[in-house]
Amino acid sequence: MAKNGLYTGIDIGTNTIKVLVAEYVSGEMNIIGNGNAKSDGLSKGIIVDIEKTAMSIRKAVNAAQEKAGIVIDTVNVAIPANQLQIEPCQGMFQISGGSKEIMDSDVIEVVQNALVRGLVPEREIIAVEPKEFVVDGFSEISDPRGMLGVRLEMKGVLYTGPKTLIHNIISSVERAGFSVGNIVVSPLALAKRVLTEQEREFGTVMIDLGAGQTTVAAVRDNSLSYVNWRPEGGDYVTKDISDVLNTSIKSAEDIKLNYGEASTERASQDEFFLVDMVGRPEPEQVSEYYLSQIIEARVEQIFEKIRQDLEMNRVDNFPGGMVLFGGAAAMPGIMDVAQRVFDQPVRLYVPTEVGLRNPAYSQVISIVSYVSGRSDIEILVTRAVMGDIPAPAPVYEAPIVQTQIPVAPVQQEYYEESPTVTPISKPTQEPEEEKEGIVDRVRGMLTKIFD
Ligand SMILES: Nc1ncnc2c1ncn2[C@@H]1O[C@H](COP(=O)(O)OP(=O)(O)OP(=O)(O)O)[C@@H](O)[C@H]1O
Ligand SMILES: [Mg+2]
Repeated sequence: MAKNGLYTGIDIGTNTIKVLVAEYVSGEMNIIGNGNAKSDGLSKGIIVDIEKTAMSIRKAVNAAQEKAGIVIDTVNVAIPANQLQIEPCQGMFQISGGSKEIMDSDVIEVVQNALVRGLVPEREIIAVEPKEFVVDGFSEISDPRGMLGVRLEMKGVLYTGPKTLIHNIISSVERAGFSVGNIVVSPLALAKRVLTEQEREFGTVMIDLGAGQTTVAAVRDNSLSYVNWRPEGGDYVTKDISDVLNTSIKSAEDIKLNYGEASTERASQDEFFLVDMVGRPEPEQVSEYYLSQIIEARVEQIFEKIRQDLEMNRVDNFPGGMVLFGGAAAMPGIMDVAQRVFDQPVRLYVPTEVGLRNPAYSQVISIVSYVSGRSDIEILVTRAVMGDIPAPAPVYEAPIVQTQIPVAPVQQEYYEESPTVTPISKPTQEPEEEKEGIVDRVRGMLTKIFD
Protein backbone atom coordinates (compact mmCIF):
# COMPACT_ATOMS: atom_id res chain seq x y z
CA MET A 1 0.00 0.00 0.00
CA ALA A 2 1.20 3.53 -0.81
CA LYS A 3 2.67 5.48 2.07
CA ASN A 4 0.88 8.60 3.24
CA GLY A 5 2.47 11.91 2.30
CA LEU A 6 3.10 14.35 -0.53
CA TYR A 7 4.84 13.11 -3.66
CA THR A 8 6.00 14.91 -6.77
CA GLY A 9 6.97 13.55 -10.16
CA ILE A 10 8.38 15.09 -13.30
CA ASP A 11 8.31 13.63 -16.80
CA ILE A 12 10.84 15.39 -19.01
CA GLY A 13 9.40 14.67 -22.46
CA THR A 14 10.44 15.85 -25.91
CA ASN A 15 7.17 17.67 -26.39
CA THR A 16 5.99 18.52 -22.88
CA ILE A 17 7.34 18.60 -19.35
CA LYS A 18 4.71 17.25 -17.02
CA VAL A 19 4.77 17.74 -13.26
CA LEU A 20 2.44 16.11 -10.79
CA VAL A 21 1.90 16.68 -7.08
CA ALA A 22 -0.16 14.07 -5.28
CA GLU A 23 -1.05 13.41 -1.71
CA TYR A 24 -1.61 9.91 -0.42
CA VAL A 25 -4.10 9.48 2.38
CA SER A 26 -4.89 5.94 3.58
CA GLY A 27 -3.18 4.63 0.47
CA GLU A 28 -5.40 6.65 -1.88
CA MET A 29 -3.92 9.06 -4.39
CA ASN A 30 -5.34 12.59 -4.41
CA ILE A 31 -4.10 14.88 -7.13
CA ILE A 32 -3.14 18.18 -5.57
CA GLY A 33 -1.91 19.86 -8.72
CA ASN A 34 -0.23 19.32 -12.03
CA GLY A 35 1.64 21.60 -14.40
CA ASN A 36 2.80 21.35 -17.98
CA ALA A 37 5.20 23.38 -20.05
CA LYS A 38 6.20 23.15 -23.68
CA SER A 39 9.51 21.37 -23.73
CA ASP A 40 12.60 23.00 -25.13
CA GLY A 41 16.08 21.53 -25.11
CA LEU A 42 15.28 17.90 -25.94
CA SER A 43 15.57 15.93 -29.13
CA LYS A 44 14.15 12.44 -29.53
CA GLY A 45 13.76 12.08 -25.78
CA ILE A 46 17.33 13.13 -24.98
CA ILE A 47 18.39 16.39 -23.35
CA VAL A 48 20.53 18.33 -25.79
CA ASP A 49 20.47 21.72 -24.01
CA ILE A 50 20.53 21.76 -20.21
CA GLU A 51 19.79 25.49 -19.89
CA LYS A 52 16.71 25.37 -22.13
CA THR A 53 15.47 22.18 -20.48
CA ALA A 54 15.93 23.80 -17.05
CA MET A 55 13.81 26.77 -18.13
CA SER A 56 11.01 24.48 -19.30
CA ILE A 57 11.24 22.48 -16.06
CA ARG A 58 10.97 25.69 -14.04
CA LYS A 59 7.83 26.72 -15.94
CA ALA A 60 6.19 23.33 -15.47
CA VAL A 61 7.06 23.11 -11.76
CA ASN A 62 5.88 26.68 -11.21
CA ALA A 63 2.56 25.86 -12.86
CA ALA A 64 2.18 22.80 -10.61
CA GLN A 65 3.13 24.83 -7.52
CA GLU A 66 0.49 27.40 -8.31
CA LYS A 67 -2.20 24.78 -8.76
CA ALA A 68 -1.17 22.80 -5.71
CA GLY A 69 -0.64 25.85 -3.54
CA ILE A 70 2.59 24.43 -2.15
CA VAL A 71 6.29 25.07 -2.62
CA ILE A 72 8.08 22.26 -4.41
CA ASP A 73 11.78 21.79 -3.72
CA THR A 74 12.31 18.14 -4.63
CA VAL A 75 11.04 16.15 -7.59
CA ASN A 76 11.22 12.48 -8.46
CA VAL A 77 12.43 11.69 -11.95
CA ALA A 78 12.49 8.68 -14.24
CA ILE A 79 15.39 7.50 -16.32
CA PRO A 80 14.03 6.50 -19.72
CA ALA A 81 14.71 3.17 -21.35
CA ASN A 82 17.27 4.70 -23.72
CA GLN A 83 20.36 2.55 -23.45
CA LEU A 84 19.24 0.99 -20.22
CA GLN A 85 21.18 -2.13 -19.31
CA ILE A 86 19.71 -4.80 -17.15
CA GLU A 87 21.85 -7.40 -15.42
CA PRO A 88 21.36 -9.89 -12.63
CA CYS A 89 23.25 -9.04 -9.45
CA GLN A 90 24.01 -10.88 -6.28
CA GLY A 91 25.61 -9.93 -2.96
CA MET A 92 26.67 -11.82 0.14
CA PHE A 93 27.38 -10.56 3.64
CA GLN A 94 28.68 -12.44 6.62
CA ILE A 95 27.01 -11.02 9.69
CA SER A 96 29.64 -10.36 12.31
CA GLY A 97 29.39 -11.76 15.84
CA GLY A 98 27.63 -15.03 14.98
CA SER A 99 23.93 -15.59 14.56
CA LYS A 100 21.96 -12.42 15.36
CA GLU A 101 18.96 -10.46 14.14
CA ILE A 102 19.47 -8.92 10.72
CA MET A 103 19.32 -5.13 10.77
CA ASP A 104 19.07 -2.28 8.25
CA SER A 105 22.85 -1.92 8.21
CA ASP A 106 23.26 -5.59 7.19
CA VAL A 107 20.85 -5.09 4.28
CA ILE A 108 22.80 -2.02 3.18
CA GLU A 109 26.03 -4.02 3.33
CA VAL A 110 24.68 -6.89 1.25
CA VAL A 111 23.28 -4.50 -1.38
CA GLN A 112 26.53 -2.60 -1.60
CA ASN A 113 28.43 -5.85 -2.00
CA ALA A 114 26.17 -6.69 -4.92
CA LEU A 115 27.16 -3.38 -6.53
CA VAL A 116 30.87 -4.15 -6.49
CA ARG A 117 31.65 -4.74 -10.13
CA GLY A 118 33.72 -3.42 -12.98
CA LEU A 119 31.50 -0.80 -14.54
CA VAL A 120 32.78 0.93 -17.64
CA PRO A 121 33.46 4.59 -16.80
CA GLU A 122 30.63 5.93 -18.95
CA ARG A 123 27.95 3.92 -17.16
CA GLU A 124 26.30 4.45 -13.83
CA ILE A 125 24.13 2.38 -11.52
CA ILE A 126 20.56 3.68 -11.48
CA ALA A 127 18.75 1.17 -9.32
CA VAL A 128 18.69 -2.29 -7.84
CA GLU A 129 15.49 -4.26 -7.70
CA PRO A 130 15.74 -6.87 -4.93
CA LYS A 131 14.14 -10.11 -6.07
CA GLU A 132 14.89 -12.22 -2.99
CA PHE A 133 17.02 -12.43 0.11
CA VAL A 134 18.54 -15.66 1.30
CA VAL A 135 19.25 -16.13 5.01
CA ASP A 136 21.51 -19.07 5.90
CA GLY A 137 20.33 -20.89 2.77
CA PHE A 138 16.60 -20.13 3.20
CA SER A 139 15.50 -18.45 0.01
CA GLU A 140 12.59 -16.34 -1.33
CA ILE A 141 12.66 -13.98 1.65
CA SER A 142 11.28 -10.55 0.74
CA ASP A 143 12.47 -8.73 3.87
CA PRO A 144 15.14 -10.39 6.04
CA ARG A 145 15.17 -7.78 8.79
CA GLY A 146 14.45 -9.20 12.23
CA MET A 147 15.41 -12.73 11.15
CA LEU A 148 18.25 -14.63 12.80
CA GLY A 149 21.19 -15.48 10.59
CA VAL A 150 24.91 -15.47 9.95
CA ARG A 151 24.94 -15.35 6.17
CA LEU A 152 22.80 -12.90 4.22
CA GLU A 153 22.50 -12.96 0.44
CA MET A 154 20.55 -10.75 -1.95
CA LYS A 155 19.62 -11.66 -5.50
CA GLY A 156 18.27 -8.90 -7.65
CA VAL A 157 18.36 -6.98 -10.88
CA LEU A 158 20.75 -4.14 -11.50
CA TYR A 159 19.87 -1.26 -13.81
CA THR A 160 22.60 0.89 -15.28
CA GLY A 161 22.46 3.79 -17.71
CA PRO A 162 24.79 6.18 -19.50
CA LYS A 163 26.33 8.68 -17.07
CA THR A 164 25.78 11.58 -19.48
CA LEU A 165 22.07 10.91 -19.78
CA ILE A 166 21.61 10.66 -16.01
CA HIS A 167 23.84 13.66 -15.35
CA ASN A 168 21.89 15.79 -17.85
CA ILE A 169 18.57 14.97 -16.21
CA ILE A 170 19.85 15.76 -12.70
CA SER A 171 21.66 18.90 -13.90
CA SER A 172 18.58 20.23 -15.68
CA VAL A 173 16.42 19.76 -12.58
CA GLU A 174 19.06 21.34 -10.34
CA ARG A 175 19.68 24.21 -12.76
CA ALA A 176 15.94 24.84 -12.60
CA GLY A 177 16.32 25.29 -8.84
CA PHE A 178 15.04 21.96 -7.54
CA SER A 179 16.67 18.83 -6.24
CA VAL A 180 16.18 15.28 -7.41
CA GLY A 181 14.56 12.98 -4.88
CA ASN A 182 14.40 9.48 -6.30
CA ILE A 183 15.56 8.29 -9.67
CA VAL A 184 13.31 5.54 -10.92
CA VAL A 185 13.65 3.23 -13.89
CA SER A 186 10.88 4.36 -16.21
CA PRO A 187 9.64 0.98 -17.54
CA LEU A 188 9.61 -0.47 -14.01
CA ALA A 189 7.41 2.34 -12.74
CA LEU A 190 5.18 2.12 -15.80
CA ALA A 191 4.75 -1.63 -15.47
CA LYS A 192 3.47 -1.20 -11.92
CA ARG A 193 1.03 1.49 -12.97
CA VAL A 194 -0.32 0.60 -16.39
CA LEU A 195 -0.33 -3.19 -16.20
CA THR A 196 -2.52 -5.40 -14.09
CA GLU A 197 -0.96 -7.99 -11.80
CA GLN A 198 -1.92 -10.74 -14.25
CA GLU A 199 -0.46 -8.87 -17.20
CA ARG A 200 2.84 -8.46 -15.33
CA GLU A 201 2.88 -12.13 -14.47
CA PHE A 202 1.79 -13.75 -17.73
CA GLY A 203 3.62 -11.35 -20.03
CA THR A 204 2.65 -8.09 -21.73
CA VAL A 205 4.35 -5.55 -23.95
CA MET A 206 4.06 -1.83 -23.14
CA ILE A 207 4.44 0.74 -25.90
CA ASP A 208 4.93 4.40 -24.97
CA LEU A 209 4.19 6.47 -28.06
CA GLY A 210 5.73 9.84 -27.30
CA ALA A 211 6.57 12.82 -29.46
CA GLY A 212 10.23 12.16 -30.21
CA GLN A 213 10.53 8.54 -29.24
CA THR A 214 8.72 5.27 -28.88
CA THR A 215 9.69 3.04 -26.01
CA VAL A 216 8.90 -0.63 -25.85
CA ALA A 217 9.18 -2.79 -22.75
CA ALA A 218 8.10 -6.36 -22.16
CA VAL A 219 7.28 -7.65 -18.71
CA ARG A 220 6.92 -11.28 -17.76
CA ASP A 221 7.05 -13.08 -14.39
CA ASN A 222 6.97 -9.64 -12.79
CA SER A 223 10.29 -8.72 -14.37
CA LEU A 224 11.35 -6.60 -17.28
CA SER A 225 12.30 -9.06 -19.97
CA TYR A 226 13.02 -6.67 -22.85
CA VAL A 227 13.38 -2.97 -23.49
CA ASN A 228 13.87 -1.09 -26.69
CA TRP A 229 13.71 2.47 -27.83
CA ARG A 230 13.17 4.04 -31.22
CA PRO A 231 13.84 7.70 -31.92
CA GLU A 232 10.53 8.22 -33.71
CA GLY A 233 7.08 9.16 -32.44
CA GLY A 234 4.27 11.65 -32.94
CA ASP A 235 6.69 14.32 -34.22
CA TYR A 236 7.40 12.14 -37.25
CA VAL A 237 3.71 12.04 -38.07
CA THR A 238 3.58 15.84 -37.83
CA LYS A 239 6.64 16.17 -40.04
CA ASP A 240 5.15 13.84 -42.66
CA ILE A 241 1.96 15.92 -42.74
CA SER A 242 4.03 19.08 -43.06
CA ASP A 243 6.12 17.61 -45.91
CA VAL A 244 3.28 16.08 -47.85
CA LEU A 245 0.82 18.95 -47.49
CA ASN A 246 3.48 21.66 -47.86
CA THR A 247 2.46 23.33 -44.68
CA SER A 248 4.32 24.58 -41.59
CA ILE A 249 5.08 22.25 -38.67
CA LYS A 250 2.74 24.30 -36.48
CA SER A 251 -0.11 23.99 -38.95
CA ALA A 252 0.65 20.26 -39.47
CA GLU A 253 0.46 19.67 -35.69
CA ASP A 254 -2.88 21.50 -35.50
CA ILE A 255 -4.24 19.52 -38.44
CA LYS A 256 -3.08 16.26 -36.83
CA LEU A 257 -4.74 17.08 -33.52
CA ASN A 258 -7.96 18.39 -35.06
CA TYR A 259 -8.57 16.05 -38.00
CA GLY A 260 -6.11 13.16 -37.53
CA GLU A 261 -7.33 9.60 -37.84
CA ALA A 262 -4.77 6.79 -37.88
CA SER A 263 -6.95 4.20 -39.59
CA THR A 264 -8.00 4.93 -43.17
CA GLU A 265 -10.84 2.46 -42.71
CA ARG A 266 -12.43 4.89 -40.29
CA ALA A 267 -11.59 8.12 -42.13
CA SER A 268 -14.23 9.95 -44.10
CA GLN A 269 -13.75 10.58 -47.81
CA ASP A 270 -16.40 13.29 -47.70
CA GLU A 271 -15.08 15.48 -44.88
CA PHE A 272 -12.66 18.24 -45.81
CA PHE A 273 -10.62 20.87 -44.04
CA LEU A 274 -8.57 23.84 -45.22
CA VAL A 275 -4.77 23.88 -45.20
CA ASP A 276 -2.43 26.86 -45.60
CA MET A 277 0.05 25.54 -48.14
CA VAL A 278 3.37 27.18 -48.86
CA GLY A 279 3.25 29.06 -52.16
CA ARG A 280 -0.52 28.96 -52.43
CA PRO A 281 -2.37 32.27 -52.10
CA GLU A 282 -5.50 30.61 -50.70
CA PRO A 283 -5.91 27.69 -48.28
CA GLU A 284 -6.48 24.37 -50.06
CA GLN A 285 -9.05 21.72 -49.27
CA VAL A 286 -7.78 18.34 -48.09
CA SER A 287 -9.89 15.33 -47.23
CA GLU A 288 -9.81 13.59 -43.88
CA TYR A 289 -9.14 10.37 -45.80
CA TYR A 290 -6.07 11.77 -47.50
CA LEU A 291 -4.67 12.98 -44.16
CA SER A 292 -5.38 9.58 -42.70
CA GLN A 293 -3.33 7.92 -45.43
CA ILE A 294 -0.31 10.02 -44.47
CA ILE A 295 -0.74 9.23 -40.77
CA GLU A 296 -1.51 5.56 -41.23
CA ALA A 297 1.59 4.99 -43.36
CA ARG A 298 3.88 6.36 -40.65
CA VAL A 299 2.10 4.71 -37.72
CA GLU A 300 2.12 1.38 -39.53
CA GLN A 301 5.80 1.81 -40.22
CA ILE A 302 6.61 2.48 -36.54
CA PHE A 303 4.53 -0.50 -35.40
CA GLU A 304 5.98 -2.76 -38.05
CA LYS A 305 9.54 -2.06 -36.89
CA ILE A 306 8.52 -2.72 -33.29
CA ARG A 307 6.84 -5.97 -34.35
CA GLN A 308 10.00 -7.12 -36.11
CA ASP A 309 12.15 -6.26 -33.08
CA LEU A 310 9.80 -8.12 -30.77
CA GLU A 311 9.77 -11.13 -33.06
CA MET A 312 13.56 -11.15 -33.30
CA ASN A 313 13.81 -11.11 -29.51
CA ARG A 314 11.01 -13.66 -29.13
CA VAL A 315 8.80 -11.45 -27.05
CA ASP A 316 6.11 -11.15 -29.69
CA ASN A 317 3.54 -13.52 -28.34
CA PHE A 318 2.74 -12.69 -24.76
CA PRO A 319 -0.69 -13.64 -23.41
CA GLY A 320 -1.28 -10.09 -22.16
CA GLY A 321 -0.86 -8.66 -25.66
CA MET A 322 0.09 -5.00 -25.90
CA VAL A 323 -0.74 -1.94 -23.85
CA LEU A 324 -0.38 1.45 -25.55
CA PHE A 325 -0.01 4.86 -23.92
CA GLY A 326 1.87 8.13 -24.40
CA GLY A 327 0.46 11.25 -26.07
CA ALA A 328 0.54 9.86 -29.60
CA ALA A 329 -1.61 6.92 -28.49
CA ALA A 330 -4.47 9.42 -28.12
CA MET A 331 -4.77 9.54 -31.92
CA PRO A 332 -8.17 8.14 -32.97
CA GLY A 333 -7.90 4.85 -34.84
CA ILE A 334 -4.43 4.00 -33.54
CA MET A 335 -5.69 0.91 -31.74
CA ASP A 336 -7.10 -0.45 -35.01
CA VAL A 337 -3.73 -0.06 -36.72
CA ALA A 338 -1.89 -1.62 -33.76
CA GLN A 339 -4.33 -4.52 -33.71
CA ARG A 340 -3.80 -5.10 -37.42
CA VAL A 341 0.01 -4.97 -37.30
CA PHE A 342 0.56 -6.92 -34.07
CA ASP A 343 -2.36 -9.29 -34.54
CA GLN A 344 -2.73 -9.48 -30.76
CA PRO A 345 -5.04 -8.03 -28.14
CA VAL A 346 -4.25 -4.33 -27.80
CA ARG A 347 -5.43 -2.07 -24.99
CA LEU A 348 -5.10 1.68 -24.49
CA TYR A 349 -4.07 2.86 -21.04
CA VAL A 350 -5.56 6.15 -19.92
CA PRO A 351 -5.12 7.31 -16.30
CA THR A 352 -8.46 7.55 -14.54
CA GLU A 353 -7.57 10.44 -12.22
CA VAL A 354 -9.50 13.66 -12.80
CA GLY A 355 -7.44 16.15 -14.80
CA LEU A 356 -5.04 13.44 -15.98
CA ARG A 357 -7.29 11.46 -18.29
CA ASN A 358 -4.88 11.44 -21.18
CA PRO A 359 -2.40 8.68 -22.07
CA ALA A 360 0.36 11.35 -22.13
CA TYR A 361 0.20 11.49 -18.31
CA SER A 362 0.99 7.78 -17.86
CA GLN A 363 4.68 8.36 -17.23
CA VAL A 364 4.39 11.13 -14.65
CA ILE A 365 1.65 9.37 -12.74
CA SER A 366 3.69 6.16 -12.75
CA ILE A 367 6.66 7.96 -11.16
CA VAL A 368 4.53 9.27 -8.32
CA SER A 369 2.76 5.98 -7.66
CA TYR A 370 6.02 4.01 -7.88
CA VAL A 371 7.83 6.18 -5.35
CA SER A 372 4.88 6.28 -2.95
CA GLY A 373 4.26 2.55 -3.26
CA ARG A 374 7.73 1.27 -2.42
CA SER A 375 8.05 -1.05 0.53
CA ASP A 376 10.41 -0.29 3.44
CA ILE A 377 12.91 -2.79 2.13
CA GLU A 378 12.83 -1.24 -1.36
CA ILE A 379 13.45 2.19 0.17
CA LEU A 380 16.38 0.79 2.14
CA VAL A 381 17.86 -0.80 -0.99
CA THR A 382 17.47 2.52 -2.84
CA ARG A 383 19.29 4.29 0.00
CA ALA A 384 22.14 1.81 -0.27
CA VAL A 385 22.35 2.31 -4.04
CA MET A 386 22.26 6.09 -3.75
CA GLY A 387 25.12 5.95 -1.26
CA ASP A 388 23.22 7.39 1.66
CA ILE A 389 25.62 5.32 3.72
CA PRO A 390 29.37 5.43 2.86
CA ALA A 391 29.95 2.81 0.20
CA PRO A 392 32.94 0.46 0.22
CA ALA A 393 35.74 1.41 -2.13
CA PRO A 394 34.95 0.24 -5.66
CA VAL A 395 36.80 -2.86 -6.73
CA TYR A 396 37.41 -3.09 -10.43
CA GLU A 397 37.84 -6.76 -10.94
CA ALA A 398 35.10 -8.88 -12.44
CA PRO A 399 33.83 -8.03 -15.89
CA ILE A 400 30.18 -7.00 -16.12
CA VAL A 401 27.96 -10.01 -15.58
CA GLN A 402 26.58 -11.16 -18.89
CA THR A 403 23.17 -9.66 -19.49
CA GLN A 404 20.56 -12.38 -19.40
CA ILE A 405 17.76 -10.20 -20.53
CA PRO A 406 17.69 -9.29 -24.19
CA VAL A 407 17.96 -5.57 -24.49
CA ALA A 408 17.63 -4.50 -28.07
CA PRO A 409 20.45 -2.36 -29.38
CA VAL A 410 19.78 1.34 -29.57
CA GLN A 411 18.54 2.30 -32.98
CA GLN A 412 20.65 4.91 -34.65
CA GLU A 413 18.09 6.07 -37.11
CA TYR A 414 17.14 9.59 -37.77
CA TYR A 415 14.48 11.19 -39.82
CA GLU A 416 15.97 11.84 -43.20
CA GLU A 417 15.14 15.04 -44.94
CA SER A 418 12.27 14.29 -47.25
CA PRO A 419 12.93 14.52 -50.95
CA THR A 420 11.52 17.64 -52.56
CA VAL A 421 7.78 17.34 -52.45
CA THR A 422 5.86 18.62 -55.39
CA PRO A 423 3.06 20.75 -53.95
CA ILE A 424 -0.07 18.73 -54.33
CA SER A 425 -2.91 20.01 -56.38
CA LYS A 426 -6.27 20.01 -54.64
CA PRO A 427 -6.59 16.31 -53.89
CA THR A 428 -10.27 16.58 -53.14
CA GLN A 429 -11.20 17.83 -56.56
CA GLU A 430 -9.25 15.34 -58.57
CA PRO A 431 -10.78 12.45 -60.48
CA GLU A 432 -10.43 9.19 -58.57
CA GLU A 433 -7.59 7.68 -60.69
CA GLU A 434 -5.50 10.82 -60.42
CA LYS A 435 -6.07 10.97 -56.68
CA GLU A 436 -4.85 7.42 -56.46
CA GLY A 437 -1.76 8.51 -58.36
CA ILE A 438 -0.99 11.17 -55.78
CA VAL A 439 -1.63 8.77 -52.98
CA ASP A 440 0.76 6.29 -54.56
CA ARG A 441 3.33 9.06 -54.91
CA VAL A 442 2.85 10.00 -51.28
CA ARG A 443 3.13 6.41 -50.21
CA GLY A 444 6.23 5.99 -52.38
CA MET A 445 7.74 9.09 -50.87
CA LEU A 446 6.94 7.99 -47.36
CA THR A 447 8.43 4.59 -48.04
CA LYS A 448 11.60 6.34 -49.19
CA ILE A 449 11.64 8.42 -46.02
CA PHE A 450 11.20 5.36 -43.85
CA ASP A 451 13.83 3.36 -45.66
N1 LIG B 1 -5.15 13.62 -29.63
C1 LIG B 1 -3.98 13.41 -30.19
N2 LIG B 1 -3.91 12.86 -31.42
C2 LIG B 1 -2.73 12.64 -32.00
N3 LIG B 1 -1.53 12.90 -31.46
C3 LIG B 1 -1.55 13.43 -30.22
C4 LIG B 1 -2.75 13.73 -29.53
N4 LIG B 1 -2.42 14.24 -28.34
C5 LIG B 1 -1.09 14.31 -28.30
N5 LIG B 1 -0.56 13.82 -29.43
C6 LIG B 1 0.86 13.73 -29.79
O1 LIG B 1 1.56 13.09 -28.73
C7 LIG B 1 2.89 13.56 -28.70
C8 LIG B 1 3.20 14.02 -27.30
O2 LIG B 1 3.11 12.91 -26.44
P1 LIG B 1 3.86 12.85 -25.06
O3 LIG B 1 3.45 13.98 -24.22
O4 LIG B 1 3.65 11.48 -24.52
O5 LIG B 1 5.36 13.06 -25.55
P2 LIG B 1 6.61 13.47 -24.69
O6 LIG B 1 6.59 12.67 -23.42
O7 LIG B 1 6.66 14.93 -24.53
O8 LIG B 1 7.79 13.04 -25.64
P3 LIG B 1 8.76 11.78 -25.59
O9 LIG B 1 8.15 10.72 -24.70
O10 LIG B 1 8.86 11.31 -27.00
O11 LIG B 1 10.06 12.29 -25.08
C9 LIG B 1 2.99 14.71 -29.70
O12 LIG B 1 3.59 14.24 -30.90
C10 LIG B 1 1.53 15.08 -29.94
O13 LIG B 1 1.32 15.59 -31.24
MG1 LIG C 1 7.24 10.68 -22.94
